[in-house]
Amino acid sequence: MIVTVVGTQFGDEGKGRVVDSYGDRADVVVRYQGGDNAGHTVVAGGEEYKLSLVPSGAVRGTVGLLGPGCVVNPETLVSEVDGLRERGLDPDVRVARRAHVIAPYHRVLDGAEEAAKSDEGVEAGTTGRGIGPTYEDKAGRRGLRIGDLLDPDLLRQRLEYVVPTKRRLARNVFDVDVDDHPEAFDLDALYDRLSAHGERLDEEAMTVNAERYLAERREAGDRILLEGAQGTGLDVDHGTYPYVTSSTPTAGYAAAGSSLGVTHVGTGEVVGAVKAYTSRVGTGPFPTELDGDLAERVREAGGEYGTVTGRPRRIGWLDLPVLRHADRVNGLTGVAVNHVDTLTGIDPVRACHAYERDGRRLETPPALTEHWSDCEPVYRAFDGWSEVDWATVASQGYDALPDAARTYLEYVVGELDADLYAVGVGPDREHAVERAHPFA
Ligand code: GDP
Ligand code: IMO
Ligand code: MG
Repeated sequence: MIVTVVGTQFGDEGKGRVVDSYGDRADVVVRYQGGDNAGHTVVAGGEEYKLSLVPSGAVRGTVGLLGPGCVVNPETLVSEVDGLRERGLDPDVRVARRAHVIAPYHRVLDGAEEAAKSDEGVEAGTTGRGIGPTYEDKAGRRGLRIGDLLDPDLLRQRLEYVVPTKRRLARNVFDVDVDDHPEAFDLDALYDRLSAHGERLDEEAMTVNAERYLAERREAGDRILLEGAQGTGLDVDHGTYPYVTSSTPTAGYAAAGSSLGVTHVGTGEVVGAVKAYTSRVGTGPFPTELDGDLAERVREAGGEYGTVTGRPRRIGWLDLPVLRHADRVNGLTGVAVNHVDTLTGIDPVRACHAYERDGRRLETPPALTEHWSDCEPVYRAFDGWSEVDWATVASQGYDALPDAARTYLEYVVGELDADLYAVGVGPDREHAVERAHPFA
């Protein structure tokens, strides 16, 4: 059985907590795209774990695999694994040998290109983790793969081609003084650092041929959980291009990015994580964005600050056109709606039912991002709900939710071709109302 968890909005929908809640029945958790631009927070027994790269299943001791569709910064990998060990956990993390490596020059170039774009006001507000430049090199057939780090001669050969080209790019196009960044542009320094990472990965037997590894697990009847990072609105194909990340978070890539066959993934479930309102970090269109006191109130109540960069997240009402789009492109079977507790005391609670553009009503967003700015949200208003003891609600089940919250949730799922699987009423593992389990 294979279950895929995806973000339906602009990231930070609470995918980490959904993956954690299914983790008790999964045998392997696989990330299939992205890198340490992700930031997943799992709260278990009052302990908070913040992970950027390691799959969220690691908190439960489930094997975590970074699939071939991921971009892996070995520094982050090592520091997250060590950090979890220091906290008494014993994470079992594997990395696909086909996954691409984020090298120090990718991070410098990410920042340099964002700075150049910001002169024109067209920056994406990236996390600065080198994600875009690494995927560019992958598609440009000049990337480094995890397997290359284990082969010193091959690694040196690849660096001998790539480092001079990165030095020229940095210097001539972006005006970067490469001598200020020896760790990123000096061939010998890069070689030493990357080969040392390769040795460590090898010593700890962390690298795998993912295709073989997952085929064996699947044939043994193991339950596999595919953990999406980012969200549909940040998808390079299906999101608000160019204000997106450089990978494909939607469920279609779960097969390619993990190396499980599409027919195997397709027989399983796709669960969309939904935040009961919308948040976004970075630039890009946001038709339901709020400002002022209301945005501030939700930001504080929901702890809406980026896990990776600490940036305050932009806040807005729930956007049904965005969710309908996510439902279609991911083929959702279920949704988990988080942060219902965060909206407590706000009355009315609004949801954007459709957009009006040029006198026409749109139920899903326009394909061209530039057209989003002409979209006027058409809102529906819902009665708010007051504070309750959410831990008690979680233990008593769905019917214990305030009536008004249930009305809101039933409207949302009624607009989608998916069932309501879970409702988040707080950050902790215990603060979830579970209605259906995809690994049943
Ligand atoms: P992800 O990137 O989709 O995994 O989400 P993040 O972990 O970046 O952001 C979600 C944040 O909301 C985290 O701090 C979670 O601990 C928290 N969270 C998740 N679900 C709920 C919920 O139902 N209520 C509240 N109050 N917080 C939640
Ligand atoms: P999780 O997995 C929210 C955003 C960045 C920027 C754009 C491109 O925690 O949901 P990148 O560094 O990927 O090149 O940045 O994408 N972004 C995220 N926003 N949550 C994330 O991950 C994100 N990962 C990238 O803010 O706008
Ligand atoms: Mg996040």
